[in-house]
Amino acid sequence: MKKIGVALLGLGVVGGGTYEILTTKRDYIRANDGIDVEVKSVLERNEARIKELGIDPAIVAKDIDEIVSNPDIHVVAEFFGGVEPARTFLLKALENGKSIVTANKEMFSKSWSDLEKAAKKGGAGLYFEASCVGGVPIIRTLTDAMQGNHITSLKGIVNGTTNYILSRMSDEGVDYDTCLKSAQALGYAEANPTADVDGFDAMYKNSILSSLAYKKRVPIDKIYREGISSVDVKDLKIGRELGYTMKLLAISKHDGKMTEARVHPAFLPTEHPLSGVKGSFNAVFVHGDNVDDIMLYGRGAGSLPTGSAIVSDIIFAGKTETVRRFSFEEEDVKDDTFATDFSTEYYIRVEASLVQDASVKVVSALTKVGVEVVKVLTKDNDLVLLTGTTNESTMQSALDTVRALDCVNKIGALVRVER
Ligand code: HSE
Repeated sequence: MKKIGVALLGLGVVGGGTYEILTTKRDYIRANDGIDVEVKSVLERNEARIKELGIDPAIVAKDIDEIVSNPDIHVVAEFFGGVEPARTFLLKALENGKSIVTANKEMFSKSWSDLEKAAKKGGAGLYFEASCVGGVPIIRTLTDAMQGNHITSLKGIVNGTTNYILSRMSDEGVDYDTCLKSAQALGYAEANPTADVDGFDAMYKNSILSSLAYKKRVPIDKIYREGISSVDVKDLKIGRELGYTMKLLAISKHDGKMTEARVHPAFLPTEHPLSGVKGSFNAVFVHGDNVDDIMLYGRGAGSLPTGSAIVSDIIFAGKTETVRRFSFEEEDVKDDTFATDFSTEYYIRVEASLVQDASVKVVSALTKVGVEVVKVLTKDNDLVLLTGTTNESTMQSALDTVRALDCVNKIGALVRVER
């Protein structure tokens, strides 16, 4: 039976979950997949953790060089998170012919091209199912189950922390800070939760998923990004009354040439399938020209769900004779194929001194610059407006005009409305 030696770099939450699955399911994998996967080495300084997981101290490596020079190791799985030292260690592994498996979306989205070059040089493969949407097999779906389609759009809840926060704020009316603290206590958030709440984590995932969906590298600097830290519970409540649910969405669209990619909080109609995705769950909604809409749903984070995706990649890497990489025909990113503007509907909340008076003036200011106002309502001292489809650039300059009106105190919220 083919033997696959694995090294685990880091034994934190996901590394520990992966070790657990690989050991408890070793016989099961032998029986079903016909390969014997064995953890041959671990790189972890925390002795207590090694003891806790019941790992033989003899397989603890002293450094990365010991791992990359070991001929019995075929696959290196990384769980450090962050760019360094993960990037340097994985480049070394690839150059030495070891395929890599990673859940590290930040490092992967920022270093994909360099990893690919090193993989080519070493004759190794790149596997990163766990980098996006944890245990949900979205990457395999995009690459191996939708080949007969041109994918034209992707819309997803790809960050569990923000979905947990927005769900609780919306369902229980709990304020943002309290929800963030519980998300941290529950272990959903990144070490620095700014990566979650400011949309960076979703942007890294959007870059990876959109690149695979459109067979075109979509770098992170081409993705518009906005987080949820300034979301007011008041807007979630008004949104619900209007039939909307707020989600932090990773969105991208591709028409064959131009690509648009963004991450921001958005209102979705309550009946949209993504609106029912609550708590730390994730889901991705994809449109292919032949298959139409599909949606994948599940746990986007956590020890065993993410470990499940890692193990699936290790088995894939171990079973296939050819190594898998996703080279893009056009290595150089062509700036003129990325949209610099986008269009959507909007929810605007304006805080005004004299609401009735402001209503007329704000609607007139918006209409004058071509923004169609489809609904206006007043909520205490706030004026709430819903618009038709408008360009983001037009909306931003329209808001400058609204802000300058005497009767307007401030723009309380601007939320894009997606369908
Ligand atoms: N912090 C991430 C999340 C973990 O909340 O989704 C999984 O990538």
